[in-house]
Amino acid sequence: MNETDLADLIAYLKQLPAVDRDMPSSRLGPLGRTLLVAGQVSLITDRTPLLPFPAIVPPGPTLEYGRYLAGYTGCIGCHGPGLSGGYVEGPPGAPPAANLTPDPTGLANWTETDFDHALRRGVRKNGTPIDIFMPWPNFSGMTDIEVKALWLYVSSVPAKPFGNK
Ligand code: HEC
Repeated sequence: MNETDLADLIAYLKQLPAVDRDMPSSRLGPLGRTLLVAGQVSLITDRTPLLPFPAIVPPGPTLEYGRYLAGYTGCIGCHGPGLSGGYVEGPPGAPPAANLTPDPTGLANWTETDFDHALRRGVRKNGTPIDIFMPWPNFSGMTDIEVKALWLYVSSVPAKPFGNK
């Protein structure tokens, strides 16, 4: 997330009505401690070094804005940096992330409208519902500009066969 978006988010949170309640401190249970000692999880603490902010990309129906959104809204976290999808650690039975590149095993035959319906309605081009592990309900509030920018970006990446992300 770039500095402008972070500032906007902080401004939004600050104007919410104050709620007075006690927050218990966070604790790791036995399993969490075991995983931590085994190096299987990492925790973000106040000593974790901060990453530099990404460049500010003006919001708009552009490929550059789509690339930025794909990074910080998490598309590449599941679909991979190359967007070709594959296995993602998730709840039992979670499907692999789909191929979003313009390959026949991906979105080669999709239109912008198909893509829009997938993101904002959770329906695939062939009409079947998209598994809820793909967080489309979070994306259903995206604006037309955000959907278009993402579409321009996913359409621009090199076609890759499904699966190696
Ligand atoms: C938490 C992991 C996760 C994130 C984050 C995520 N996806 Fe997905 N996505 C999936 C999974 C898993 C599927 C396959 C769902 C299924 O098979 O029903 C999928 C399917 C899709 C599909 C349907 C493609 C097809 O052929 O079925 C589209 C389009 C899509 N994702 C776009 C996106 C975009 C764009 C973003 C970012 C804005 C995004 N996804 C973020 C996990 C994710």
